[in-house]
Formats: sequence, C-alpha cells, structure tokens
Amino acid sequence: MDTALARSLRASRPPRPLGGELAVPGDKSISHRALMCGALAVGETQIRGLLEGEDVLATAAAMRVLGAEVVRGAAGTWHVAGRGVGGLAEPADVLDMGNSGTAARLISGILASHPIFSVLTGDASLRSRPMRRVIEPLGACGARFTARAGGLLPMAIEGTGDALPLSYRLPVASAQVKSAVLLAGLNARGTTEVEEPAPTRDHTENMLRHFGAELGVEAAGAGCVIRLAGQPELRAADVTVPGDPSSAAFPLAAALLVPGSELRLSGIGVNPLRTGFLTTLEEMGAAIAIENRRLEGGEPVADLIVRHGPLGPVDVPDARAPTMIDEYPILAVLASFAPGTTRMRGLAELRVKESDRLAASARMLAENGVRVAIEGDDLLVHGTGRPPPGGARVVTGMDHRIAMSALVLGLASMEPVGVDDARFIDTSFPGFALLMEAAGARFEPA
Ligand code: S3P
Repeated sequence: MDTALARSLRASRPPRPLGGELAVPGDKSISHRALMCGALAVGETQIRGLLEGEDVLATAAAMRVLGAEVVRGAAGTWHVAGRGVGGLAEPADVLDMGNSGTAARLISGILASHPIFSVLTGDASLRSRPMRRVIEPLGACGARFTARAGGLLPMAIEGTGDALPLSYRLPVASAQVKSAVLLAGLNARGTTEVEEPAPTRDHTENMLRHFGAELGVEAAGAGCVIRLAGQPELRAADVTVPGDPSSAAFPLAAALLVPGSELRLSGIGVNPLRTGFLTTLEEMGAAIAIENRRLEGGEPVADLIVRHGPLGPVDVPDARAPTMIDEYPILAVLASFAPGTTRMRGLAELRVKESDRLAASARMLAENGVRVAIEGDDLLVHGTGRPPPGGARVVTGMDHRIAMSALVLGLASMEPVGVDDARFIDTSFPGFALLMEAAGARFEPA
C-alpha cells in the first residue's frame, strides 16, 4: 500500500525476510553544501543525486531568494548558477529554514559576511534549537545578530561587507558551527582559522576545495586546525552526492533485526568521519560487508551488504560520538535486542537535535517495554537477547530519526509499533516507507 502520505504509521513483523538492493537518497550534509557552494561560485554547477528532502529544499529555496538560479532539470540533475563569493542579494522576505538546523546555521555563516539584512526562521522544532553557538563566533566578524531570548529563531542578521577573518576554537564538536565559521570566512579579508577539539564531518572542507578554495588542515591534539584563505574565486564544479549513511542506517538496522534478511545498499558515503555506526555494529558482531570502495566527487563511497544475525551489547566511547551523532536512536533500538547492557557515552549534543533525542530515544524504548536509563550524558539500554514487547504509539516530537527508529523497532518487536506523525521523515528520507516496503517491510496507517 502507498503509505507515503500517512500521518500516523504502524510497523509490524513482515511475513518474510527483507531482501533486495536499495539505493537510499543523497547525503543531506553534502546536498546542503553543494547548493551553497554552487550559489557562491561563478558559473553553473550541476548536482547529481541531490537529496530532495524538505531540509535541502529549504536551502535550495533560500539560495534562490538570495539571487542564485537554482533549477531542477528533467533527469533529476540540479543546476545552480552562482553569484560569486560575496555576491548574494538581500532577500525580500524572511528565510524559512523549516526543520533544518544545518541550513539555518550554515546560511547564518554565509549571511554574516554579506552586506545585507536578513531574517531567519523555521518550524517549531528549529525555533527551539540553540543559535548562540553560531551567533557568538560570527558576531566577531562584524555582523550583528538579534535573536529571541535564549538565542532562538527568528533571528535578524545585519551582515558586513568588510568581514574580519575569524579565529575560533569550537567549544563543542559541531560540524555545523565549524562550517558556519568557514563559510563566513569565504568573504573575509585574510585567513580564517577554526580549531576543532575532536574531528567532525569534513564535507564543508571537501566541498570548498572541490570549488577551488585554498584550505589547509593541521593536526592539533585530538583534533585539528583548519585554515581558509579569504576571498577565493570559487569556480562552479559538478557534484555527485553519495547515498546518505545516516539514512542507510535504518534499512541496515532493519535487515539486522528481521530474521533471514539480506540487503544490499549501493553507493553509500563511507567518509571515515561518518562511519562510527559501522564500527559500532562490527563491535556488536553484525555481519556487514563493505564492497566496491571508490571515490565519487572527492568523497569515499561503497556498497554495504548486511545480513541478519545476533548482536551483542557494546560500550560506545564518547570520542566516537561526532562520527555517528545522528545514529544513536537507531543504535539504541538495535541494543534493545542484544543480551546485556549497552552504554552509549557522551551524548550531551543529542539534547539539542530536532528533539531532545537523548530523552526521546529513552522514552521510545521504555514505552515499548525496554529497560533504559540516562546516567549523566550516557544512555544505557538493558537488552534481554529477546525481541522487546513493542506495542506503543511513539510521539515523535517533529523528529524524523525518532520516527524511523520506532518504525524499524516495530518490524521486529513482539507487537507492532506506531508513530503519531511520520511526515517529518520527508525532511531527510523522502520515500522511506515505499523503499522499506519494496524490501518487504510492513507499514500501515495507524
Ligand atoms: C550536520 C552536523 C551534525 C548533524 C546534522 C548534520 C552537518 O550536527 O547532527 O544532522 O551537516 O554539518 P552538529 O554539527 O551540530 O553536531
């Protein structure tokens, strides 16, 4: 059945194992960056495999309002005619970033070093997420930010055409904040410097290089210092977006849990700063083969073959968190099937995602009969080695990843699991229900 538009969905055990070859949609992080760099480059950029999820479409719309030409071609290739570094135009209306923290924070960086006035807003989830983490560093370049109390959207930005280059040490390991500072540095005179305490996804660095920027990275302690030379001429460059490993995590987990399943996920991004989930699954004893490794547009890509099999409990170190930050809700689901206690350490950042994902992950499992605990910033899941009872209707709180995690749980728990609102899945994984159903999953309106 076509469940793509159902608001509330319920997943139950499929009558037969999952199987087949799936291509998940394009990487969300890389898609945002391809559109932004295309809009700041001179010439026409073509993007293949762009994620056409609502988050990325919000970035496409914003780039259009800021003066770039952004068009979807007939074959699904996107064309972006850029305005050059510093060349974006003042938007005539408020920029609505929907559900997307990445769009809001990265675009704040771009706008800070343009001599234009703009106002950013978003949906209720995004309007509750912290923007001070970008306001603070970006303010030092000479831009002025006025936000709601607590540093919340809506937020007005008076950018500057004479931006000072920033030198900033990230207080939290956040690729979004790093990227905001680097993007502001594009139109600053001189060298922008960002120091990361721990390495986070480097798609902005890769994309900027791909468009011709001069960028150096030097190891520093457990992290690194990134230096970007200001005011480069970015030249249009074609981009092929790999499959999103954070989206692949859901069918992958489903195949691990549903007895007898085997799935092949082709063309998935395997950038080492995104593969913490695969490392953790290996430690849990999962059977995953990584084949056909290749480079596509400067990013490593591979095919993943996953088979159902027993999983053991695991202790996930906090240093791994940046490389699998979006995969904890689905890892928590997997851990609930393992015999023993899984501890996931250092998850403070999960509290400020699309929802408080630390609390939401714990609640989702507890309501479905799993014993869980939050100790400080750690999440503990006490699995019994048997499928959890299930049977609950999970409140997703505008969070796509909680919705998909709950539905995957329902494919293997004793009783079906429902979600109150599946629509937010479209922010990152349009076609999730259809793709999973094609592999043999069972979803129905609840
Ligand atoms: C992202 C970085 C991560 C991640 C988000 C996408 C990015 O956020 O959770 O889904 O594209 O830079 P933080 O950098 O804030 O941890």
